[in-house]
Amino acid sequence: MRSSLALLPLVMGMTTTLSPTVVAAPRHKLEFPPTRDLQIASRRPEVVATKAANNAFERYRPAFHFQPKSNWINDPCAPFFDPSTSLYHLFFQWNPVLNDWGNDTEAIAWGHATSSNLIDWDFVDTPALLPSDPYDDKGVFTGGFIPSTLASNTTLFGSDLVLAYTSVKREGVTFTKPYLIGTETLSLAQSSDNGATWQKYEGNPILSGAPTSDYTGWRDPYISYWPAVDSLLGSSDQSLYALISGGHRDEGPTTFVYKINPNNLTKWEYISSLVSFESNSRESRWTGDVGKNWECVNRMSLKDSDSDLEREFLIISAEGTNPNRVGNGNGTASEAVMVTRTPRYQLWMTGELATSSNSSISLTPSASGIFDHGNFYAANSFRHPITDKLLAWGWVQEEDLPNDIRAEQGWSGIISSPRELYLQVHRHVTGYFGGDDLSKIPVFESLEKLGNNGTYSTMGIKLPEDVLQGLKARATAYQKLDKWSPSATNGTGENEHDISIDDNAQIIVQSSVRYPSADATSVVGISIFHDESQKLHTDISFDPVNQSITIDRSNTVSPKASAVDRTINRRPESAAHTLLTYGGLGDKHMETLDVVILFDKSILEVFINERTIISTRIYVNGTSSQGFVRLSAHGVDAQEIVFERTGVWSGIDAEMRY
Ligand SMILES: *[C@@H]1O[C@H](CO)[C@@H](O)[C@H](O)[C@H]1NC(C)=O
Ligand SMILES: *[C@@H]1O[C@H](CO)[C@@H](O)[C@H](O)[C@H]1NC(C)=O
Ligand SMILES: *[C@@H]1O[C@H](CO)[C@@H](O)[C@H](O)[C@H]1NC(C)=O
Ligand SMILES: *[C@@H]1O[C@H](CO)[C@@H](O)[C@H](O)[C@H]1NC(C)=O
Ligand SMILES: *[C@@H]1O[C@H](CO)[C@@H](O)[C@H](O)[C@H]1NC(C)=O
Ligand SMILES: *[C@@H]1O[C@H](CO)[C@@H](O)[C@H](O)[C@H]1NC(C)=O
Ligand SMILES: *[C@@H]1O[C@H](CO)[C@@H](O)[C@H](O)[C@H]1NC(C)=O
Ligand SMILES: *[C@@H]1O[C@H](CO)[C@@H](O)[C@H](O)[C@H]1NC(C)=O
Ligand SMILES: *[C@@H]1O[C@H](CO)[C@@H](O)[C@H](O)[C@H]1NC(C)=O
Repeated sequence: MRSSLALLPLVMGMTTTLSPTVVAAPRHKLEFPPTRDLQIASRRPEVVATKAANNAFERYRPAFHFQPKSNWINDPCAPFFDPSTSLYHLFFQWNPVLNDWGNDTEAIAWGHATSSNLIDWDFVDTPALLPSDPYDDKGVFTGGFIPSTLASNTTLFGSDLVLAYTSVKREGVTFTKPYLIGTETLSLAQSSDNGATWQKYEGNPILSGAPTSDYTGWRDPYISYWPAVDSLLGSSDQSLYALISGGHRDEGPTTFVYKINPNNLTKWEYISSLVSFESNSRESRWTGDVGKNWECVNRMSLKDSDSDLEREFLIISAEGTNPNRVGNGNGTASEAVMVTRTPRYQLWMTGELATSSNSSISLTPSASGIFDHGNFYAANSFRHPITDKLLAWGWVQEEDLPNDIRAEQGWSGIISSPRELYLQVHRHVTGYFGGDDLSKIPVFESLEKLGNNGTYSTMGIKLPEDVLQGLKARATAYQKLDKWSPSATNGTGENEHDISIDDNAQIIVQSSVRYPSADATSVVGISIFHDESQKLHTDISFDPVNQSITIDRSNTVSPKASAVDRTINRRPESAAHTLLTYGGLGDKHMETLDVVILFDKSILEVFINERTIISTRIYVNGTSSQGFVRLSAHGVDAQEIVFERTGVWSGIDAEMRY
């Protein structure tokens, strides 16, 4: 008798025993106590896990991105690193029984996973928090970890770890409906076993929610130390501050600032709203629409690694944005039949903090951009207490799949790869591709006002170096190409170069593309060919004239696809992007187009110059197979373009222990 695994080569990505190349990672596994009560036991997802025998269940499942075995997920919640166990904890909005966000009787809960290296994950079989109390039985919504509880012995909670979450007691929480006061409240949960299990605080809820019904939302607490606000308010202690996100119906989206009493974490004092925007305002194509309501606003200060420059940043999940985005538009006849996405944007913003005589705190934006231009939302972040690095995850959505395919698949949503956020500083800047007035590109903040002529900063977003190296180390094959140019070897104007790979389901591609000058016009591309027949491919390109990155997904559907498969959203993704020019003393040069591509079965994440990121979904059928990566350059000056240090790592795997 053959085991079901033997019939399912796709499952290999998920198991260690069948994959000889995986290096066993050191494990610091917590012993989880037995399931606390019968209600939890009845909600464990074992019933659905038997669906693994169904090919549809595994067809699009990634290998090195975290997701639960089954059912619906959305926002990552309350990530943190605990030095006492050397474990990262990641929670996420999870419905343990439905492959949908929730309904009246089965509301959203918190799932939980831990990792020692951000690559291999242990899924915690017991949901961390369930919607089981009168104040939260319609949803345990997103929340944040309270970082002081890693170190201190807070009077009320002893040495427990504590997190805060949005407790919801009525259905239908959305900015599109009138707001009912008291629907969303604030609650705490604590853990006395190093984060293995969580108990709700008996005094919940600790805040009764939005004070008036003119709110559009009031949720998703994010908690951090905030020294800049301590000094603005003249506070000598290191205080804890929280942001709770939402908006005012007649004004616009915002986030509300609270100060938390460090000795009594149930005491949250409202300070003020932080920013003021008109609904749906948008500065230019380089920045996103701010929408009508904000969710999951996080804050962080990012420091330059080479100087004492420090800037204040927000990352923002904006909903109620203008629906006419690329991933939603109806450009062609075949696009018109495809499912559309919920209109929302993942944004970032930087600016100046100020206080007024009444002690309100405000942030006046000085630069902003789109944190991820694709199908990515609800980023949540934390500062690592030892390395001081700022790490964030987001929710990469399943909504490009029509509902009937998603239902057959039995799971929805993937947690993105971790992203490290840093202050990206450029010195001696003279201009950019096609221009010299950088004030036209509001993703760059001029630091001239701080006495740094020619210096610009922006939000840097990259894969943490140890994660990138760790993933590469797990590849079964690696191919490199130090230099390739359309003119280099043959001189006959060959515009394409293919790198063959044996296993194209999980790959990393890295390359730096050098343009001859800032007025070159050729389009460069990196394509992933998903099968040997060359019919199925995803094309990533940079057009220096339009200053845009495009991901063309139109050729990812098989000719044999059914009518419903043709409704999978395969509209293009796009992002505004440019390269900078520098002119130091005797050193005039251009920035190279630095590309890192992660492709994992059905999720594609493209990092360009560590500041323009696109995460999207590619639904290509079939088993891992041979394919190739194609480099291309097309245009009048293509022969002068050079792809440098190109690498392709394939057959990457990680351990997901369910
Ligand atoms: C919610 O989903 C569960 C599980 O499918 C189902 O039993 C229940 O009837 C649903 N409730 C409503 C109100 O639709
Ligand atoms: C923490 O505080 C409690 C209550 O005051 C006290 O009993 C306990 O000894 C403290 N623990 C530590 C490690 O300081
Ligand atoms: C903590 O604050 C709450 C709310 O103000 C108050 O009811 C409670 O007594 C305080 N607890 C302690 C131990 O100070
Ligand atoms: C795209 O076309 C479909 C089918 O005609 C239509 O239902 C949908 O509203 C259109 N979407 C947009 C964004 O125009
Ligand atoms: C505090 O001052 C700010 C800025 O002057 C103002 O916008 C806000 O309405 C004031 N808040 C209160 C509660 O008076
Ligand atoms: C800043 O640099 C630009 C170009 O290098 C130069 O033209 C300008 O005079 C400088 N401004 C200051 C204040 O030094
Ligand atoms: C171009 O050069 C490469 C590397 O030397 C070689 O493999 C390839 O066959 C050449 N192509 C043509 C058309 O001559
Ligand atoms: C570049 O812009 C031109 C003019 O707006 C447009 O016709 C063309 O389709 C654009 N190219 C891409 C790749 O978006
Ligand atoms: C994927 O494969 C299945 C089974 O062969 C087929 O029914 C379906 O149409 C294919 N979907 C696409 C998008 O190619």
